[in-house]
Amino acid sequence: MPLHRAIYVSDAVGDAATSLLVLAEILGASIRNNRRDRVTGVLMRHDGRFLQAIEGRRADVDRLMDRLRADPRHENIRLLSDQNTTVRLFEEWPMTLVEMPRPVWPHISRPSLDQLSAAQAEALLVTASQVLALPA
Ligand SMILES: Cc1cc2nc3c(=O)[nH]c(=O)nc-3n(C[C@H](O)[C@H](O)[C@H](O)COP(=O)(O)O)c2cc1C
Repeated sequence: MPLHRAIYVSDAVGDAATSLLVLAEILGASIRNNRRDRVTGVLMRHDGRFLQAIEGRRADVDRLMDRLRADPRHENIRLLSDQNTTVRLFEEWPMTLVEMPRPVWPHISRPSLDQLSAAQAEALLVTASQVLALPA
């Protein structure tokens, strides 16, 4: 099946930058909708920014991007990557929260999140998601 993956950075608005409740609400809706649409991906919140990868059929990814653009909990969506692919990088998760890996922290501040290349953003999200896949 042809697939599509988009990766973007956005600026959290108000409470969305720090609130756990907002994050839980976003994840709840994401898991529900993405299961339905067979969309998978990961979401990172760091220093007032969101970094998210979403993958699925082109039409489903586009529809989700439209909903994301209309969501007041973030703004200034910058697409880092928007491409066809044959493999899912995050196939285990309809949507899951990942953390910025600790060793990367000193190197990633607000401005540098914006300067990530598509390949760097993808590598960062894959690395962060691998922590979730480790056995306990
Ligand atoms: C940073 C961020 C990431 C989001 N990720 C998703 C997502 O992966 N899937 C999704 O359906 N909604 C996501 N949302 C929520 C959508 O913008 C929108 O509120 C939701 O899809 C509407 O779903 P509903 O009509 O079922 O309430 C996200 C919102 C934000 C702010």
